[in-house]
Amino acid sequence: MTTPKNKVVFSGLQPSGTLHIGNYLGAIKQWITLQENNSAFYCIVDEHAITVPYDPASLPTTVLDTAALYLAAGLDPNQSTIFVQSHVPAHAQLAWLLATQTPLGELNRMTQFKEKSANHQDRSTLGLFAYPVLQAADILLYQTNIVPVGEDQIQHIELTRDIAKRFNNKFDAVFTLPEALVNKNTARIMSLTDPNKKMSKSDDTAKSYITLTDTADAIRKKISMAVTETEPNFSFTNSGPAVTNLLAIYQAFSEQSVQDIENQFASSGYQEFKSSLADLIIEHLSPIQERFQTIRPDTKHLEEVLADGAAKAAQVATKTLAIVHEKMGLA
Ligand code: TYM
Repeated sequence: MTTPKNKVVFSGLQPSGTLHIGNYLGAIKQWITLQENNSAFYCIVDEHAITVPYDPASLPTTVLDTAALYLAAGLDPNQSTIFVQSHVPAHAQLAWLLATQTPLGELNRMTQFKEKSANHQDRSTLGLFAYPVLQAADILLYQTNIVPVGEDQIQHIELTRDIAKRFNNKFDAVFTLPEALVNKNTARIMSLTDPNKKMSKSDDTAKSYITLTDTADAIRKKISMAVTETEPNFSFTNSGPAVTNLLAIYQAFSEQSVQDIENQFASSGYQEFKSSLADLIIEHLSPIQERFQTIRPDTKHLEEVLADGAAKAAQVATKTLAIVHEKMGLA
């Protein structure tokens, strides 16, 4: 994959608790690479997080935890615009305008809505249904070219393109059409306890995911308990889904070639492979955890970074919003 240059990059993540290695490998690791030669906007999407039941008292803390993890993982406020969605009102404003132009049928097809509304049944809200329209607004406000995400977000990016195309045809060519950027090796990191489900922080069992702040002990335990197929067979093409997932995690953290990894473990048993994998994850996460310990207590600094990010984001976002107002006859 050649790394894009001189593009507008936008992505976001929900501040729901701590981040897991699926978020890191599927999204954040790409964000870090992309911040260097592009104009990058990385958002903490608190207005998306409130579309399912949540605790208002702890949301400000989770937002700051997420900001600290962004920085600890390697996002640099001098290279990226890092901000909180609700600090830039243009997101919610554009979402309403786009909602008036989005057919219900398109939203009805969204698989994430179907999954999430099944989990929340009678508490499912209009906000949850409209979630992808707010996501489209996030992306389109910045005239984004590239949206680095995991596989589960591809459908939302396709919808964003459809919304933008329809708007451009009907009103005027206002929006850039964005493209999803997924790293195929890490686009879908699976649960450690059920390789048919994606790794998710809303999973009932914490054994199924590794968070960026898990202790070395917890990481070793979770990896040693991770399900595997009966016979050890470390092949990227012939292993079952559980081992393929562990190999994908190994490859993403080690950045070694498939061939090297297969050779390295050709005659290994599960214990040896799992212990190397746990060591590798710990080795990668411990510097992030150390930086997190230093960055997180400095609330004032975090708030400054976010205020600065919101001011920069708002400059771009309000321009796009003003054009949309004018084209829609609201000026
Ligand atoms: P969220 O918060 O669920 O996830 C953040 C990012 O992590 C990726 N991801 C994964 N990648 C690989 N394997 C996994 N198991 C895994 N789990 C999560 C997600 O694909 C995502 O890239 N709707 C978005 C947030 C959002 C957004 C946006 C993203 C709001 N506005 C605009 C991009 C652009 C979400 O809920 O992500």
